[in-house]
Amino acid sequence: MNICVVGLQWGDEGKGKVVDILAERSDVVVRYGGGSNAGHTVVIGDSRFALHLLPSGSIRQDVTCVIANAVVLDPEVLIGEIDGLAERGISLDGRFFISENAHVVLDYHKWEDQLREEALGKRKIGTTIRGIGPCYADKVGRSYAVRVGDFRDPDALKDKLRVILAYKNKLFSALYQAEPMDAEAIFEKCRSYAPRLVPFTTDTTELLHTAIGQGKSVLFEGAQGSLLDLDHGTFPFVTSSNSSSLGLPSGCGVPARMVDKYIGVIKAYTTRVGAGPFPTEQDNEVGDFIREAGNEYGTTTGRPRRCGWFDGVAAAYGVKIGSIDALVLLHLDTLTGLEELKVCRAYEIDGQEKTFFPANIDRLARAKPIYETLPGWDDDLTGISSFDDLPAHARDYVRRIEEIVGKPVEMVGVGPKRSQTIVRA
Ligand code: GDP
Ligand code: IMO
Ligand code: MG
Repeated sequence: MNICVVGLQWGDEGKGKVVDILAERSDVVVRYGGGSNAGHTVVIGDSRFALHLLPSGSIRQDVTCVIANAVVLDPEVLIGEIDGLAERGISLDGRFFISENAHVVLDYHKWEDQLREEALGKRKIGTTIRGIGPCYADKVGRSYAVRVGDFRDPDALKDKLRVILAYKNKLFSALYQAEPMDAEAIFEKCRSYAPRLVPFTTDTTELLHTAIGQGKSVLFEGAQGSLLDLDHGTFPFVTSSNSSSLGLPSGCGVPARMVDKYIGVIKAYTTRVGAGPFPTEQDNEVGDFIREAGNEYGTTTGRPRRCGWFDGVAAAYGVKIGSIDALVLLHLDTLTGLEELKVCRAYEIDGQEKTFFPANIDRLARAKPIYETLPGWDDDLTGISSFDDLPAHARDYVRRIEEIVGKPVEMVGVGPKRSQTIVRA
């Protein structure tokens, strides 16, 4: 069985936790998009892992891990993660592979990300400043791109970086009056990365097809969320890749029909980091309650996340474009203590009721959520391990979300730990 796990909201739904759980029954786990803008958390007992580039399956010693072609790879972050796991006794030797075609995020991408955001002022996207947009832009532009495979030939890479930096420095100085970057220093860093990355580098498309051909089970780990998808999200307040499951085939060379099941991860409410429309946002005591109860601070940047009610219109959109078969609903425990819970089942836009999410931000800005109010619960859910043992109002809440979103909830999260997950029969 090949499974894809993807976020249906604006990221941080808890994909890392779900992938860690499903990795127990997988042979291979693949990251197919995004870069170190992602922050995926896995909590096992008292140990917490925050992974940005390595697939969340890395923690399981018997799983093969792949970073596929459409990931933009920051070598500094990746090497830090590999070393961090090694210090905790987890080795990737012999079971980790990087696509030779993955593009490399270097210091000038992060610098460009920062300069552009600063120059935009109030119109900024609120990126993670991890160099994601500039690196994908170089990929699409082709002429100034660096791929992981380039680390195999240091002399050629040195020449390439000289040309790239001459171009980038002209831009930095003309557009932002910024200091130039030193091509030599960047090359020296690349020279030090090469022996750490080249041994893992391979044709991951061949590797994945071989594994699937042998009947191995592959787990595809989405990054970001469907509403941050470059083409289908709330542009321009999106990331620079196809972060819905639509990015999977091009992201790793495995066609969509070879994936047996698509799992959409949602939180029991909605969050968003960075700028952009958010119809059910609660910039008030409800939002503050959710942020504190759910510890809604970014895994990558530490920024407080914007919080609001569950948006069924937005989640149902992720289901439609993502071919989603089933849902995982996390953070049900976070809502404990709220007397009433609101769930958005439709929008009113220009006097009309709509249930299809308008990704266009002008229309979305005019969307007024139509809410249903459901009773809350006071019980602590964090020790509950069976769906039937949940308080009646919590079960009703999950069932209503299933109806609105139109897919069954197969797992429910009642705490951050691996063990705090209810699997429904
Ligand atoms: P990802 O980017 O989708 O992998 O999600 P993040 O790791 O950025 O954010 C999810 C956060 O919620 C992490 O801190 C998780 O440890 C935590 N988490 C996951 N599931 C649950 C849950 O069911 N309840 C609570 N309270 N926390 C959870
Ligand atoms: P995971 O995988 C939440 C958001 C940023 C910003 C926008 C563009 O942990 O769910 P970028 O740096 O990609 O150019 O930023 O996208 N963003 C995320 N928000 N979770 C993520 O990843 C995100 N990755 C990017 O906050 O609004
Ligand atoms: Mg995250």
